[in-house]
Amino acid sequence: MDARDRLRQYLEQRKEMGEQDLVLDGLSVEDLMKIVGAPVMPGAMQPMAARPPAKVSRPEPPPIERPAPPPIERPAPPSAAAAKVVVPSGPIDVGGSVSEGARAASHLVTLDAVANAIAACKACSLWTTATKSVPGHGNPQAKFVCVGEAPGATEDATGLPFVGRAGDLLTKILEAVQFKREDVFICNVLKHRPPGNRNPEPAEIAACSPFLMQQLALLKPHVILALGTFAAQTLLQTKEPIGRLRGQIHRFHGVPLVVTYHPAALLRNPNWKRPTWEDVQLARRVFDSASGA
Ligand code: URA
Ligand code: URA
Repeated sequence: MDARDRLRQYLEQRKEMGEQDLVLDGLSVEDLMKIVGAPVMPGAMQPMAARPPAKVSRPEPPPIERPAPPPIERPAPPSAAAAKVVVPSGPIDVGGSVSEGARAASHLVTLDAVANAIAACKACSLWTTATKSVPGHGNPQAKFVCVGEAPGATEDATGLPFVGRAGDLLTKILEAVQFKREDVFICNVLKHRPPGNRNPEPAEIAACSPFLMQQLALLKPHVILALGTFAAQTLLQTKEPIGRLRGQIHRFHGVPLVVTYHPAALLRNPNWKRPTWEDVQLARRVFDSASGA
């Protein structure tokens, strides 16, 4: 692939995420050089060889696995964005009036009761194609909650969230900030798998969200980590692209919420590893201060 192809692929990925303008968040000049293709020295195998020797000799381990780099001071976001607060209003609901589903879910007083209701749910058609429901899994006392998009094939087969390739990466991401999976609770916006892993439809999100809202109401997390566009946009009730939502502290009904890229997106675009690393560190710091650590 030549430089132009790579740049085009990069821009297509940004577009796929709903970004209209080019925001080079988390991209160093080096990263960008890699994308556009740094000049290659004659005989050299890789563009790397064209860089100053100091950098060539320092292989870069995946950001997820390396020890904490010095905190990166981001420019303060505009105050309107920083102050973005979702105001609680009675039974937690997504999109307009309090739905029947939201009212029903608000009567489920344990996580197991929510899981049972999910297993029996026919509020959208996804139950017809799914194998198992995937309500969520983890420590019922967890104060750190990860919210993803929807079950994939492995999750559908096992009934457990984030157990495929993206799940393995999520485990590593959590371990990088000293969380074990047993310490946290992991769930998704959708509790049944969309056929072929297609994107969730708005009606499915509306039908399924009351379960997520009730899980969060029961767990009372100190921090929510929203993984990817669907989780972020659903919880924050916004259409803002993920590139603008990540890297700051939002509020979900008063609970600090940090947005980061979806692990599956990281598998496709390693350039997002570094911003993800910054986001999970931010989430961990917020968790520690909210938990009195
Ligand atoms: N992707 C998700 O969003 N959730 C899962 O549970 C697995 C993959
Ligand atoms: N799409 C998502 O859902 N999440 C990402 O992080 C990137 C693309």
